Amino acid sequence: MISENRPRKLICLTGFMGSGKSTAAGLLARQLGWQHVDLDKRITDATSLSIPEIFSRMGEPEFRRVEHEQLRRVVGESLESQKARVVSLGGGTISQPVNLALLRETGAVLIWLQCPIEELLLRCATVTDRPLFRDETSFRMLYQQRLPAYESADYRVDSSGEPARVVEQILALGIFPRVVA
Ligand code: S3P
Repeated sequence: MISENRPRKLICLTGFMGSGKSTAAGLLARQLGWQHVDLDKRITDATSLSIPEIFSRMGEPEFRRVEHEQLRRVVGESLESQKARVVSLGGGTISQPVNLALLRETGAVLIWLQCPIEELLLRCATVTDRPLFRDETSFRMLYQQRLPAYESADYRVDSSGEPARVVEQILALGIFPRVVA
């Protein structure tokens, strides 16, 4: 549970590939009148490359370096600005200890969009822009590896349903009233 005095102006949605982070973050931000920042979009804007291009041309370590750099920027902007933000992280962002530590230092509130692996598989099988979705076995293994990081989030909501339902559950957590947007 988060402490009462943690500034709630930086909410980050985490979860595995296909858990609906970007869609839910966009909807949530709109309902709250907050800004939505999508970390993958920041990465593609900064590099002028798509996520698959970054992985194929430069490899995952370079992707993680850029991801961390962009997360630092997003966090820095949030500290400087009074504007509240909802950030959709990438599926692997908080499994990098340095990123999790940064978010913890900043006082960001982490919400895990939890979804059954079978549903995640169905959602990701039809989309081709995820370089870490190779086959079912490696997908399941990666999910298992990442569970401890997701479980360290402050809150979890079920994201197996419609995005609007996910947002309803986040709003029902009761963590927003004290935020100055
Ligand atoms: C990744 C998930 C992707 C993207 C990149 C790496 C991961 O984001 O950041 O392909 O490590 O799980 P989504 O979770 O939005 O698909």
